[in-house]
Amino acid sequence: MRLLVTAGPTREPLDPVRYLSNRSSGKMGYAVASAAAARGHAVVLISGPVALPPPPDVRLVRVNTAAEMLGAVQSELADCEALIMAAAVADWRPVFIAGQKIKKHAGNLTVELEPTADILRHIKSDKGARLFVGFAAETGDPLPAARAKLQAKGLDFIVANDVSRSDIGFDVDHNQVTLLHVDGRTDHWPKMTKKETAERLIRELELAVKAQSGGAAG
Ligand code: CTP
Repeated sequence: MRLLVTAGPTREPLDPVRYLSNRSSGKMGYAVASAAAARGHAVVLISGPVALPPPPDVRLVRVNTAAEMLGAVQSELADCEALIMAAAVADWRPVFIAGQKIKKHAGNLTVELEPTADILRHIKSDKGARLFVGFAAETGDPLPAARAKLQAKGLDFIVANDVSRSDIGFDVDHNQVTLLHVDGRTDHWPKMTKKETAERLIRELELAVKAQSGGAAG
């Protein structure tokens, strides 16, 4: 398969030295890209700024902002059979980006934020026969929000996890996820490494593609 994977946070600049971002380390998305490449798939990884080495045998496209990530996804999507959106795209960005460093002054600073583009919603109409996989990182029980996102964003699967738990959340090597399928199936996976989670997700994708193409043996 040709797979498009996104990973990491995006950064939305406020001035030349400051930005709005989030705690995503990129580990889950990089693990997915590595696992897919190790299974022989052709992988394009669109990555926000992270402190991880590029995975072997993967074409890496680096972006900073949500708008850049949207542009990169749009230009790579046509050549791919599946999209795995593991990136933690920033939901807001400063309305004004100062050309010079904003100087400290007495009193509060109010920054007006506007929504960034929701990448999955934006490309929903270009889905065609492609498989789309999303991630839902929630605080607390992730399943209700994940189910809603699965429908709203036109996904085939969503990987839900509770990032408020310090042992399976941001910047750690383990994960405990629930895979929700668009047909309503719900698979609770045990706690395992992000590498193992990624390998299992790739196997699920392979099965889904096989089922889609008529269940041909192989
Ligand atoms: N996503 C996206 N574009 C955005 C934000 C999120 O494509 N601007 C994708 C993520 O990559 C993920 C899925 O949507 O696969 C769910 O992301 P999440 O941050 O959990 O949901 P949001 O839609 O941002 O909703 P909320 O922040 O309110 O939970």
